[in-house]
Amino acid sequence: MSRKYLIAGNWKMNLTPSESEELASGVAKAVGKDASVEVVVSPTFTALDRVSKIIEDSTVKLGAQNMSPKASGAYTGEISAAMLRDVFTKYVILGHSERREYFGETDVLVNEKVLFALESQIKPILCIGETLEDREADKTLEVVKTQLLGGLESVEESQLVDVVIAYEPVWAIGTGKTATPEMAQEVHASIRSLLSEKYSASAAEKVQILYGGSMKPANAEDLLAQADIDGGLIGGAALDAASFGALVEAAKKAP
Ligand code: 13P
Repeated sequence: MSRKYLIAGNWKMNLTPSESEELASGVAKAVGKDASVEVVVSPTFTALDRVSKIIEDSTVKLGAQNMSPKASGAYTGEISAAMLRDVFTKYVILGHSERREYFGETDVLVNEKVLFALESQIKPILCIGETLEDREADKTLEVVKTQLLGGLESVEESQLVDVVIAYEPVWAIGTGKTATPEMAQEVHASIRSLLSEKYSASAAEKVQILYGGSMKPANAEDLLAQADIDGGLIGGAALDAASFGALVEAAKKAP
C-alpha cells in the first residue's frame, strides 16, 4: 500500500499547557525520529506553542482541534489559520462530531473551514460519522456521504492529497464501543469509492482515511489490518504516552 499510516491524537479539552508539555515529551520520546508512521498530536490552543517546541526535534507533527474559516478580524474567541501556522501547526481537525453536536457546526461551515485550511497550507482532518440513531435507521452510508461531499464541496482534485478523512461513528466515541473492523472497513471502502467517483480512482487511493472511536492498543491491530483503514484519530488513549506509543507501534506492524 502506498499510503502511510497516520496516528493522530485528539486531546480534546484536556490537560493544561504544562501537562500537555509532559505528554508531548513522552510521545516525542516514544516516536523519536522514526518516520515510518505519521504521528500528530492535537493539544488545546493554549498549549500549541509549548507543545510545538517540545516536538520540534522529533517527527511528531502538530495539529489543532478547530480553526476559523475567516482570515482575521472581529470574530471574538476565534483562532485563525495564520495564528496556527505561526506555531507550526500542520493539521487541523475539522467538523468533529462534538463540534457539530455542541457548537452547531454544519456541513457548510465545515466546508468553509476545509477550504480555508487548504488555502492556508494546513491539512484538514475532516471528521464524519453517523449517530446511533442513524445507524439503527440504516442511514449510515447516507449520512457519511452527505457529510463527506458537503465537507469537500469545491475542493479540487489536486488538493485532495492534503485532505485526511476521519470516520468516527458518534456512538463509538468515548463509549468504549468500537465499530468492528468489518463495520469500519465497510464504511471506509464506501468513503474511498465516493472519493473515486467524485475525483478519480488514483486520487482516492492516496487519501488517508482514519478510524476514530474508542481505538486503543487492544483493538488497533485488527482495525489497522483492514484494507481501507489508514490510521486512527484517537481521543482517550492519546492522553497516555504509553498507550499512544503502542498505537504507533501497532501501525508500524500493520500490513
Ligand atoms: P475516543 O478515542 O476517546 O473514543 O475519541 C475518539 C475521538 O473523538 C477522536 O477525535
